[in-house]
Amino acid sequence: MDKVKQGISTSRLKEGQISPMLRWLTGDLIPFLQNPLAASIAANHWRPVARLRFLHMGVALILDPALTHQVFMDSEDAFNKGKPVKAALDKWIGDGLLVADGEYWKHQRKLIAPLFHHRYMTDYVIVMHRRCLRLVEGWNDGQHFDLKNTLSKLTLGIVCEALFSEYNSDRYADELAEILKVLVRVVGLEASVLVLPDWLPIPYKRAKRQAAARLRDIVEAIIADRRSKQDSQDTRPDLLSLMLAARDEQDQAMSDTVLRNESATLLLAGHETTATTLMWAFVLLAQRPELYAALALEARQVLGDSVTAPTLDQLAQLKLATAVIAETLRLYPAAWLTGREANHRVHLTDDVVIPKGGLVFISAYNNHRNPAYFSDPEAFLPERWLDGSLEKNLPKGVYIPFGEGPVPRLSVHATVQAAQG
Ligand code: HEM
Repeated sequence: MDKVKQGISTSRLKEGQISPMLRWLTGDLIPFLQNPLAASIAANHWRPVARLRFLHMGVALILDPALTHQVFMDSEDAFNKGKPVKAALDKWIGDGLLVADGEYWKHQRKLIAPLFHHRYMTDYVIVMHRRCLRLVEGWNDGQHFDLKNTLSKLTLGIVCEALFSEYNSDRYADELAEILKVLVRVVGLEASVLVLPDWLPIPYKRAKRQAAARLRDIVEAIIADRRSKQDSQDTRPDLLSLMLAARDEQDQAMSDTVLRNESATLLLAGHETTATTLMWAFVLLAQRPELYAALALEARQVLGDSVTAPTLDQLAQLKLATAVIAETLRLYPAAWLTGREANHRVHLTDDVVIPKGGLVFISAYNNHRNPAYFSDPEAFLPERWLDGSLEKNLPKGVYIPFGEGPVPRLSVHATVQAAQG
């Protein structure tokens, strides 16, 4: 069987590139800003905890599964999502669910989780199916295209339609694609350690301000339009209508600002992650043509020649497709680095103490390639997931493509794994 070897170059970090004096002053900051993935791999070497230094600030890069699990589970009390990521995303999603903490996070989580209940998932799958058909109908044999752009447009169209209905998706998807391209690029630059103030008169900050302002305008216009039609027949069963109808325990609805932040959060959380995962799946499958053929066979056997959208039951039967996505998320987890900041002094172990305000990084990329848990960890082997024993036996904190948390993961994450097949 062909085994696809995956590797990551750390050549940009060769000693001598940074003068010893600068390295002494800034610690691991410059390598990390240059190439965070390579820097975290270089620091880690399968140690349970690697210590990084950004100027005067210590950062603990956690690899040990039990500690990883502990940090995720302590997110309510001991840790928060961290200043860098909040500052990077503030203009874009405000305090939307992805960056919310504490009581507010719990409150919002209760309002948002039901939107992904099974009974609504079927509708989202119909949207996914229709948009995929529309895309491939336009393809011709031998045609070349930019895979990442095509998939980003596809997944954005899907998220937009699931969120704001087909009408708004068709109307705004192209503009949103441009806006989100800018924002995703800037956040990729920023969400690591040093986020400069957004008001700085430098080109990428200007681009970020303009893109975030336009995004807010579009989402606010869609919400205002929907509110004005709320009593008419012209309301659509999409995520926005579910959010408008949601009530908390005090029977309070979400304000327009909260709706805007949560809508922008879903646009961010739902489109780039899925596009990146699909892209890697295609890249990896291209190197295993026999697996690609087996996938096509599985799809024919489970779905037949039907052109209607698959049901959730049928998706669950696509075992090989689900394994391909699980393995793709193992090798290339879209959210490959997650950060937390200590609310107070935290004793992770006798030796590892995180001071108040100290940062902890968890690299899903590193965890997922740990040879202690995955044999031949660099190889693309979806087969490893097929009989279910690997997943059952993995300790918590090892396989974390969707993070972990004190409450069950959102059902959208479970469905993503099946629905992408
Ligand atoms: C391959 C696809 C996806 C990946 C790899 C992924 C990954 C993640 C990760 C790692 C987190 C936790 C971040 C943290 O704790 O710091 C997260 C949170 C979240 N994701 Fe996803 N995600 C995916 C798809 C989606 C989709 C399709 C949606 C919705 C349309 C979504 C909505 C969310 C939301 C709302 C949160 C915040 C949950 C909370 O804090 O309770 N994600 N995702």
